[in-house]
Amino acid sequence: MPIQLSLLQNILAIQHEKRYSISGVKTMNILIVGGAGYIGSHVAREFLDKGYRVTVFDNLSSGTRENLFNDEKFVYGDILDYTALLRAMREGFDALVHLAAAKAAGESMLKPEKYSYQNISGTINILNAALEAGVKNIVFSSSAAVYGEPQYLPIDEKHPTNPENYYGFTKREIERFLSWYEKLKGVRFAALRYFNAAGYDVKGRITGLEQNPANLLPIIMEVAAGMRRELRIFGDDYDTRDGTCIRDYIHVNDLATGHVAALDYICKNNVSLTVNLGSENGVSVKEMLETARRITGKSIPSEIDRRRAGDPAKLTASSQYAHEVLGWQARYSDVETLIETTWKVYNKRRLFCYCQ
Ligand code: UFG
Repeated sequence: MPIQLSLLQNILAIQHEKRYSISGVKTMNILIVGGAGYIGSHVAREFLDKGYRVTVFDNLSSGTRENLFNDEKFVYGDILDYTALLRAMREGFDALVHLAAAKAAGESMLKPEKYSYQNISGTINILNAALEAGVKNIVFSSSAAVYGEPQYLPIDEKHPTNPENYYGFTKREIERFLSWYEKLKGVRFAALRYFNAAGYDVKGRITGLEQNPANLLPIIMEVAAGMRRELRIFGDDYDTRDGTCIRDYIHVNDLATGHVAALDYICKNNVSLTVNLGSENGVSVKEMLETARRITGKSIPSEIDRRRAGDPAKLTASSQYAHEVLGWQARYSDVETLIETTWKVYNKRRLFCYCQ
């Protein structure tokens, strides 16, 4: 056989092998932007487990190398660097998942510039690079923060969007960009409105800790692990069953299955989707704390502090739409599983530190 022909056949075979699994079914090739972060790594693991080929694009500013897997490809890069994004996307992806964002609601009120750059400018770069590279299926991590102060509960997708903080505003605006890009450029998107993400991989495969966490459960865990002195409870005079705020905590493994189901849905049906992902279960700050004390066996000192600005008393999701269209159900979002899976990670770190 002429050398050139056999070379060509080899190249074609490699291309084929890259795109098709042994069964001959096409395996989707996806780019996960922000896939080294806390939620992103759980999402990446789920796609890998389901047989997708995954490339993670991350600048490791809040994500960590510890959250990367051997069976995925990693590209170090920043979403504010259009050239780097475009180069990565030109590898040829069937879809992208976008989770790269600054996400502390309180901080967004003090540093809106940071949120404008990272969330808005970063996303515009991603959308434009995706269009230029021909990637038309996008899963976007949006937030329940788009709703603002609830007018009724549980919150369904028809609830008006009126963000109370700049972070929520950036997420709502990005949803609007996506809708325009859908109309004008034929992009298909799933905007997933997460409620309060919590917990760690139930199989213990993800262990990267968030640096300077601002959320309730990691803060409770840091106190239990001796990394922080006490939990400050922001207000105990709300109109709730124990005076503290009620939230809908959703396990990250459940969020992750929601991403896979959403991508599958928009690709199969060639439609876009905006959907809540919540557990439909309200848990108060004090309930979270008491359960953490029981599970960890630690006293976890706490102090009542003033209310935090912009905190609604109660937020719970209706996830009926996700049940109906995606057949999605939260499986791991009970308080015990949330705390046990998180404590395993923090406790290991605590024991490791004591051994040093
Ligand atoms: N809380 C405390 N002490 C703390 C931290 C939090 O009492 O040190 C309380 C808050 O006041 C609130 C509850 O714990 O009542 C949950 O607060 P988080 O900061 O963990 O979460 P938020 O509900 O403010 O926001 C989270 C995400 C947002 C997302 C929102 C969706 O951080 O990105 O859930 O519901 F938009």
